[in-house]
Amino acid sequence: MAGRDRIVHLLRQLERAACRCPAHSHTFHQGAAAGGGRKTDYAFEMASSNIRYGSGVSAEVGMDLQNLGAQNVCVMTDRTLTRLPPVQAVLESLVKNRVHFQVFNDVRVEPTDSSFKEAISFAKKGSFDVFVAVGGGSVIDTCKAANLYCHPDADFLDFVNAPIGKGRPVTRALKPLIAVPTTAGTGSETTGVAIFDYEPLKAKTGIASRALRPTLGIVDPLHTLSMPERVAANSGFDVLCHALESYTALPYSQRAPCPTNPINRPAYQGSNPISDVWSRHALRVVSKYMKRAVRDPEDLEARSSMHLASVFAGIGFGNAGVHLCHGMSYPIAGNVKTHAARGYSVEHPLVPHGLSVVLTAPAVFSFTAAMCPERHLEAAEILGADVRQVKHADAGAVLADTLRRFLFDLQVEDGLGAVGYDKDDIPALVKGTLPQERVTKLSPRAHTEEDLSRLFETSMKLY
Ligand SMILES: NC(=O)c1ccc[n+]([C@@H]2O[C@H](COP(=O)([O-])OP(=O)(O)OC[C@H]3O[C@@H](n4cnc5c(N)ncnc54)[C@H](O)[C@@H]3O)[C@@H](O)[C@H]2O)c1
Repeated sequence: MAGRDRIVHLLRQLERAACRCPAHSHTFHQGAAAGGGRKTDYAFEMASSNIRYGSGVSAEVGMDLQNLGAQNVCVMTDRTLTRLPPVQAVLESLVKNRVHFQVFNDVRVEPTDSSFKEAISFAKKGSFDVFVAVGGGSVIDTCKAANLYCHPDADFLDFVNAPIGKGRPVTRALKPLIAVPTTAGTGSETTGVAIFDYEPLKAKTGIASRALRPTLGIVDPLHTLSMPERVAANSGFDVLCHALESYTALPYSQRAPCPTNPINRPAYQGSNPISDVWSRHALRVVSKYMKRAVRDPEDLEARSSMHLASVFAGIGFGNAGVHLCHGMSYPIAGNVKTHAARGYSVEHPLVPHGLSVVLTAPAVFSFTAAMCPERHLEAAEILGADVRQVKHADAGAVLADTLRRFLFDLQVEDGLGAVGYDKDDIPALVKGTLPQERVTKLSPRAHTEEDLSRLFETSMKLY
């Protein structure tokens, strides 16, 4: 077989192996020229992340900063972590390697536009040449924003996702950012995304650009040992949903519009054969280790495995995107009235991110399964269901039941009703989901406002 034909043949084989259902056929395209004036994309781009993994590896960060020639380093973290081993290990390494640094420890757990702006103002005053984020997604995202906006010219909404912001592409290189994740987790160390609660709309949104991706993620599993049980559970649910949503997302070749310039190809492109590998593997690790990691804080094997799973899922969803669970989670996290998150040392009302995402998962996958039943069944099987006799028409119900059992075993609150929402809140929750089209448009199944209402209503009670 001639070279090009062989590549075409191999790609087709790869795509067929990934999934046979219509939504995920990843129809092979011969290129823009052949497609001429395409409405949907014909290509995807895999951005890889630099990750260093190992027990105790954060002791190397001081040397990394020396190797970068850093003169003035900004270390970002939150108040709880300031007293804990992850931050101590990083600061010790900086001192040992004579790195000059300043610490900003006022990161808000689940950041807002105002808390981002405080961090940006700190970064502007410091004239830093390298950033180091030590924490969960809240810290890493805040640090990404500080790095992006410490440049004097930018207006805050310039790079925020449209339609809330202007969604301008970032065209300049940012300062190096080293991310040391302490949850397992958001995968923020692998992504070009920074999420915050936009207070005027009471809904989360974000900034998405490959330029934001950390230069290096230092993944040190020892840092997960101090995670309280609920932080391990909720951040683990984020991994679960990253894997499930990216694996079932609309295929890249069905996403519109087709960019006329590669700079406009979004970071979240839709499912694709390379992301599939990462997402499916992450789901397997979650299935094997998550319950152990939540229940036993000293189970280093389980906690380490979940830390790596967050990286796998991060690379998967960072390129493929997420869809309805995440899109609907943003107003759930943004409209919290009084709910106090179990096991979190924060003073403000909070529905932690991973919890806000997973509470709608049974309803969402029940809804989306019709478009790609094979993937939904495969996910249910990975999570422990016996799917041998299950018909495609029942794929959604089976995955939803499997998820409900998983959540019940991990003592998750009984639906949105248990975190302070009722039927009267549904219009506001729907309204807050509508601007999240960057992710909701990656749902494999098209949806109306009525569909979203029904999904919120079904999620009020889980068990
Ligand atoms: N950028 C992305 O790609 C991305 C992806 C998913 C979520 N997010 C965002 O990340 C945020 C959530 O991040 P998260 O789930 O990692 O949690 P988090 O950063 O909000 O931290 C939650 C709590 O756990 C504590 N904590 C963190 N690590 C700890 C440790 N090792 N020991 C003890 N306590 C620890 C923190 O101090 C905090 O009180 C949300 O704002 C979410 O929207 C971003």
